[in-house]
Amino acid sequence: MKELSAIAKSVQASPTMAIDAMFKQMRADGEDVIGFAAGEPDFNTPDHIKKAAVQAIEENFTRYTPAAGILPLKQAICDRVHADLGDKVCYAPEQVVVSSGAKHVLYLALRAITNPGDEIVIFTPGYVSYFEMVRMVGGVPVNVPTLEENGFKPVPAEFEAVITPKTKAVIFNSPGNPTGAVYDESELQALADICVKHDLYIISDEIYNCLVYDGKPYTSMAVLGPQVRERLILVNGVSKAYAMTGWRIGYGLTTKEIAKVMSNYVSQSTGSPCAISQKAALEGLTASQDLVGTMREAFQARRDYMVSRINAIDKVSCIKPEGAFYVMMNIKKLLGTTIGGSRIKSGEDFAKALLTQGKVALIPGEGFCAPGYVRWTYAASMENIKEGMDRLERFLAQ
Ligand SMILES: Cc1ncc(COP(=O)(O)O)c(C=O)c1O
Repeated sequence: MKELSAIAKSVQASPTMAIDAMFKQMRADGEDVIGFAAGEPDFNTPDHIKKAAVQAIEENFTRYTPAAGILPLKQAICDRVHADLGDKVCYAPEQVVVSSGAKHVLYLALRAITNPGDEIVIFTPGYVSYFEMVRMVGGVPVNVPTLEENGFKPVPAEFEAVITPKTKAVIFNSPGNPTGAVYDESELQALADICVKHDLYIISDEIYNCLVYDGKPYTSMAVLGPQVRERLILVNGVSKAYAMTGWRIGYGLTTKEIAKVMSNYVSQSTGSPCAISQKAALEGLTASQDLVGTMREAFQARRDYMVSRINAIDKVSCIKPEGAFYVMMNIKKLLGTTIGGSRIKSGEDFAKALLTQGKVALIPGEGFCAPGYVRWTYAASMENIKEGMDRLERFLAQ
């Protein structure tokens, strides 16, 4: 047999999915494990959104749609962005591409701008899929590490220092997964200025925009003016805001030219996003946003609880994330120690030991390029978070 594609063979399975699969298997086997690994809201999709989908089916809205999404949904996306970000940000439906989840929109964005060998800058710790997606389109990921003491935000000069003639774009993510870092406008401006100076595209993943805490406003790369918007692909979706992870609707807002290229890719690959899910997403975006606020308040209370419990435990610590629903727990003081007979040399060792002994699933930092850390999600019930923290305490007390 001839060789499979070298690029395809080099793609690694998502480590977050791998741990989640192990956790689900243990649970299927009847073990009392608690999961803090998967990044999805534990809330159910709101009823009014589910009803819109049922209505779509009953009305036989079940056929192919335009490749980049139905016009009312594209218009609703423009309106939502306008409502969230104000008059400075005005997109037209031709600038919108709806696809099967924000993940796929990120892939399309990278496909649209990357030639083989182009370098794409990623700030680390970063979302696991960025690294593999860049490789999947023939690009080269270039990591710029950030530090916990800087709130996991990059030093602009360190970003500028990695730029070469081959640098094509930067992937930016606020609020961030896995760090929960939220950038204010001046921090965004400092990074955007570098992108304008070096003529780089900006892929700005703002999928957690509804989850910014403590009354801090959400701001976006899109507010920084036309010089930024002409190089920007703003990525978002309905998964996190409306508890719709399984419906697979994400969207990108960009220039008409880039939107056209992305849309052509959709038309020749997935064809179009799911018609029924588009109707559900339309309902989510256009109905009252009160439930989004209710979910945000619940997440904030869980974050506060989790952060205070972690920081009360010896040898582990975390900073308080300002957005998304993750906590990066620093386990550096545990490296080189033995817990319950398990030698801990890495985040992976720690996550495996905690899962097998403590019956708690979380994600090792290595997949995010964050050795010395493990990621918890607080998209879990308060009851489970309490139990998870008790288990962590008992595991570490051995
Ligand atoms: C930073 C980030 N971007 C994108 C996604 C993917 O979102 P979607 O479910 O819309 O594909 C996730 C999901 O975990 C994420 O954390």
